Amino acid sequence: MFEEGAVLKQRYGEENVFDLSLGNPVMEPPVEFKQELSRLAEHPLPGMHRYMPNAGYPETRAAVAAQLSLEAGINFTMKDIIMTCGAAAALNVVLKTILNPGDEVIIFAPYFVEYCHYIDNHGGVVRVLPTDEQFIPKLDALEAAIGAKTKAVIINSPNNPTGVVYTEDCIHQVGELLGKKEAQYRTQIFLISDEAYRKIIYDGLKYPQVWHHHPQSIVVTSHSKDLALPGERIGYIAVHPDCSQEGELVDGLIFCNRTLGYVNAPALMQNIVRHMQQVTVSVAEYQKKKDFLYDHLVKMGYSVVKPQGAFYMFPKSPLEDDVAFVTELQRWKVLTVPGRGFGTPGYFRISYCVDDRTLEGSLDGFQKAARKFNLS
Ligand SMILES: Cc1ncc(COP(=O)(O)O)c(C=O)c1O
Repeated sequence: MFEEGAVLKQRYGEENVFDLSLGNPVMEPPVEFKQELSRLAEHPLPGMHRYMPNAGYPETRAAVAAQLSLEAGINFTMKDIIMTCGAAAALNVVLKTILNPGDEVIIFAPYFVEYCHYIDNHGGVVRVLPTDEQFIPKLDALEAAIGAKTKAVIINSPNNPTGVVYTEDCIHQVGELLGKKEAQYRTQIFLISDEAYRKIIYDGLKYPQVWHHHPQSIVVTSHSKDLALPGERIGYIAVHPDCSQEGELVDGLIFCNRTLGYVNAPALMQNIVRHMQQVTVSVAEYQKKKDFLYDHLVKMGYSVVKPQGAFYMFPKSPLEDDVAFVTELQRWKVLTVPGRGFGTPGYFRISYCVDDRTLEGSLDGFQKAARKFNLS
């Protein structure tokens, strides 16, 4: 999509192509980021560009732990936190640490496609399970899929590509099921919660935390989206303080952060985000974009599950063949991604972390496609 978008923009001019295909936020980081950056430039810390412990600066880990304790209502300390090069590295470090060759990892479709590559990177076997029509995991399918080889279940809420936020009740039921299966197979099954979009949730929703529902929980997240810093590669892993053999697990995570070649998360970013744990980009801005696009699409006749977070929506494709529909939209210079790229054909993903001009400009193409395929 990236390549095709570049070709279209070259041919028709940047302003005439409405690119809703990438999860690359157009927002600038909050003002506090620039303040911290300037402060460090003007008053550099001695040794701030040197190697450090592989888990990250103790002060940064402690600041993350303090914020998580506030949000989650359980007591984290720096020993539960490993700073990483974004959520992508966090996922790779976790999978490298916990997987033996042939171990199974369960994911739910539609999914962030990189999960398949990351699991494969570390000798794991991907088990893809369906979700219901609201994109919520089906518990009976999960129950049937878990076996002696299941090492982990990855959930992602708010979800890329659907924008759906799982309820507390859903997470509770998943946790309960994992506990039951651990007892049945005498194994440890990790719940890996990918919370890259945790801070971007709408309508005053309170974020349902995994921590209260399964002690073998590991959260991976980053500041790519909540502070609009995807190019800076800064995130972290948090391990439940009650996870069994937590010390050994954390030692493994730190070792793998080193041996996968990340070594440590970027020093400059660690020194900055340490002071920004309570700061987030304007969620109201994203909510405005979401409401604008969702309302228009629904009026045009598109069938869309209302997103409650992140900056994506995942409408039903008016054509059974989602690739054909995305190609049609391209004729009107609107770029989206076919659902099959997320393991769910018959849908397409819209990313609305773009400027308002691009969103407004895309409406004409969506309207023409809706008329062509008799949506209303
Ligand atoms: C669901 C999900 N997980 C993880 C990532 C990776 O993010 P990061 O930039 O923190 O590596 C992304 C990025 O788009 C994502 O959408």
